[in-house]
Amino acid sequence: MGEKDLHADGGALALRMAEWGLVPTADPAAPLRYPELPAREEPSAAEAWSRAREGMPVSAALARELAADGLLRGVRIAMSLIVEPKTAVLVERLAQAGATVGVYCHAHECHQYIADELASRGYAIEANSAWTPAQEREGALRLMDRIRPNVVIDDGANFARLLVMERPALLPQLIGVAEETTSGVRAFQAMQAARELPFPVVAVNDSQLKTRFDNRHGTGETCVATTLELLGAGCLAGARVAVMGYGPVGEGFARRARVLGARVTVVELDPVRALEARFAGFDVARAAEALPAADMVVSATGVRHTLPLDLLRTLPNGCRVVVIGGIANEVALDQVVAAGGAILPGEKDGISQLRVPQGPTLALLAAGDGVNYAAGPGNPIEIMDLSFAVQILAVEHLLRNRGALPNRVLRLGPDADRRIATLALAVRGVTLDAAPEADTADGSTFVPDWRVTRFSDAVTTPAAAPASPNPKELP
Ligand SMILES: NC(=O)c1ccc[n+]([C@@H]2O[C@H](COP(=O)([O-])OP(=O)(O)OC[C@H]3O[C@@H](n4cnc5c(N)ncnc54)[C@H](O)[C@@H]3O)[C@@H](O)[C@H]2O)c1
Repeated sequence: MGEKDLHADGGALALRMAEWGLVPTADPAAPLRYPELPAREEPSAAEAWSRAREGMPVSAALARELAADGLLRGVRIAMSLIVEPKTAVLVERLAQAGATVGVYCHAHECHQYIADELASRGYAIEANSAWTPAQEREGALRLMDRIRPNVVIDDGANFARLLVMERPALLPQLIGVAEETTSGVRAFQAMQAARELPFPVVAVNDSQLKTRFDNRHGTGETCVATTLELLGAGCLAGARVAVMGYGPVGEGFARRARVLGARVTVVELDPVRALEARFAGFDVARAAEALPAADMVVSATGVRHTLPLDLLRTLPNGCRVVVIGGIANEVALDQVVAAGGAILPGEKDGISQLRVPQGPTLALLAAGDGVNYAAGPGNPIEIMDLSFAVQILAVEHLLRNRGALPNRVLRLGPDADRRIATLALAVRGVTLDAAPEADTADGSTFVPDWRVTRFSDAVTTPAAAPASPNPKELP
């Protein structure tokens, strides 16, 4: 193994190694040197699948309950999710619980070895990492026609919106949709506002067990890790990083980047979120102030054209551009190309040169897609166990309330979050005390008696003895 000077990257590698439990033993007077890390070995599809299965006990328990109940028997589910090992486990579990499951996946989100493994195990799958946008659309329509879904599990609302526009004949049998992410929930809310939402949607994203874990922790962690993987361990140390959007995803990235030595400036449009960022100790600035000075710009908004052509032109040459939201054209590549710019192969896989006309040449990661899933392994298994547990409860909710739900964007109640959290704690060997004086039937919520106030409930102390007079103050 070669050796690496740990000062060269501002200490970022040292921090990573410390996280992994590798402690330097070097003479403190000598320059710190650590062995080069061995290259990561990619597991086979079957190994990755079984590793994911072992790491997802919570969704397993819920799927077993559904299987015992028989609720999924004969139900047809079309799923549009990133195809990687954790998704394969979800497919397997829903199928074992009695559903017919088919999967569609966008080309840039398709881990081909897992797509091939799903196909070889007999699952209906329409996914190919080499597809053009036109082929993706055809593949999605083919899956709709093959599965004729009762339930859609969607990610970004793209599949279900295509179904509304291109296959309206399939709508009568569609019981509802479970939507995985923020940008998809926004799209369905827009349909609802336009009175054009023809089915109930469970906003899986909005459950606490999704947003407060997947968006805040998993995405931040894996986007930082993949960025380090692509750009080198020292890429954040001392770097000026502008994070656009301080929702849970932006917050997760900003906090971790700071730990690795980045000087983070947050760019936000929402004053409350901007204030939160300020109170968390970040600089907050307008895009026009932060971007020209940035070594790296990170889009965490999930909003189209967060980085439009005019802002891209203000970035310094060589600036790294990273998307961690993941909607199409979050970085306005359409505008760049239309204005005569180009996206060219870069120094290594996963990094392209973005030539901005009348502007800089930038280093674009993962072709402007969400960096953690397009160029890395996606969210951690333990996190996806929770997100998919919410998905399973969303499917259960749609089926149990079939025909009784309004065509609106709905949230699962706090009971679903509590059920998943209790299971997730149990598999980690943690049990909690029962809440005292629980007044509700399920013992879950402490409801105070509103008549009890400080006036009626104060503890009466014995009357204080009169203070002995200070003789010096007596007349
Ligand atoms: N990469 C992943 O694995 C992954 C995982 C979960 C969520 N996501 C996606 O990440 C995105 C963000 O998720 P979230 O839950 O934090 O969303 P959010 O809506 O809670 O936060 C986004 C923030 O961006 C701000 N914003 C919007 N436009 C802006 C602009 N032009 N400049 C500055 N700020 C702007 C908004 O005010 C908002 O506070 C979504 O698209 C979501 O779907 C990705």
